[in-house]
Amino acid sequence: MMLPHNSGSEAEAGQGPRLPAGSRASIQVCIDEPQRDRLLLSDVSSGLSSFPKEIPPKWFYDDAGSRLFNKITQLPEYYPHRREREILARRAGLIASLSAADTLVELGSGFSPKTIMLLDAMQSIGNLRSFVPFDVSEESVLRTAAGAVEAYGDLDVYGVVGEFDLHLGELPAEGRRLLALLGGTIGNFTPDRRKSFLNEVSGLLRPGELLLLGADLVKDSERLLAAYDDAAGVTAEFNRNVLKVINRHLGADFVVERFTHVVTYEEDSQWIEMRLRSDVDQDVYIPTLGRLIHFSEGEDILTEISIKFRLAQVRSELQSAGFEVVEQWMDDAGDFSLSLGRLVGNPMDKPVVE
Ligand code: SAH
Ligand code: TRP
Repeated sequence: MMLPHNSGSEAEAGQGPRLPAGSRASIQVCIDEPQRDRLLLSDVSSGLSSFPKEIPPKWFYDDAGSRLFNKITQLPEYYPHRREREILARRAGLIASLSAADTLVELGSGFSPKTIMLLDAMQSIGNLRSFVPFDVSEESVLRTAAGAVEAYGDLDVYGVVGEFDLHLGELPAEGRRLLALLGGTIGNFTPDRRKSFLNEVSGLLRPGELLLLGADLVKDSERLLAAYDDAAGVTAEFNRNVLKVINRHLGADFVVERFTHVVTYEEDSQWIEMRLRSDVDQDVYIPTLGRLIHFSEGEDILTEISIKFRLAQVRSELQSAGFEVVEQWMDDAGDFSLSLGRLVGNPMDKPVVE
């Protein structure tokens, strides 16, 4: 099988990572700089005019933000990364054989730090044909695609730079797919959005294809709070990075140091909230909006939620979206979970694309 090469506009590698010349890899860029800036403007315009103010979390992830996130995954307090790695180290072989997939599609792949375990497992049973990293961060997709090509000589790599809300339909339909959403990213959607996302994903897959979902689990609030408010201040820097993104792309004049990283755990809704709190009364000018935005002292911008799940809840949400839950695994400490769902239905409904 050959994946479609170079459809859409091809990534300009610029100063960043490059794809090796002549490799079986290509990148489809669904969202270019001008479009990205228009979307950012529209999110900032509505998010900062609403009460309470909010900025959607996807804007954390410019090149600097993606690197900061990668740093978060190495922090002692940030257990989800290590726990998910522990589960994958133990179960990747089983996941590869249960799924019998030849194509790994990874949504929100970032730097794909754990994906190699799945690719290795697929390769060792002779199934691995292609890898599709999908992320809003172009640098991440390029970096992951280049790394995969280097590690697996004859792998077809088809990276997609796109946005969950807009571009899931651009994912290639070839092969027998295992779609992975790792890192607890499912927890960053609001409950409504999570439902629509899971339904959209199930609409993309053919019966028999699989979804591997990493979800963080409910635990004592002290550990949760520490994971999102580390002693070294990396998460605080990551949170404030969104203001730098708005400054750079929209010419705004946020004084980043005048906002404090605030984290709370909402016991009722079982989610972490991350906010940026204005230290003083201040106005910020956003030229592309043509207006000043006022922040009162102590006023918050909600920048992210991270929902904590129970296994039964993940199971029932997967079932509601049309998946049969094949297995659910936890790490030894019971901190994090991976669930493998198989899309139910008549395989003849959507014939396989070779
Ligand atoms: N899967 C990696 C990274 C998780 S961080 C891991 O497990 O470590 C979440 C990733 O999702 C980031 O790389 C970010 O760029 C991407 N992302 C966040 N919102 C997105 C959106 N709306 N559309 C596409 N990608 C998004
Ligand atoms: N999906 C990750 C999580 O919810 C994202 C994340 C971790 C995050 N730490 C963060 C996002 C800090 C923003 C800020 O755990």
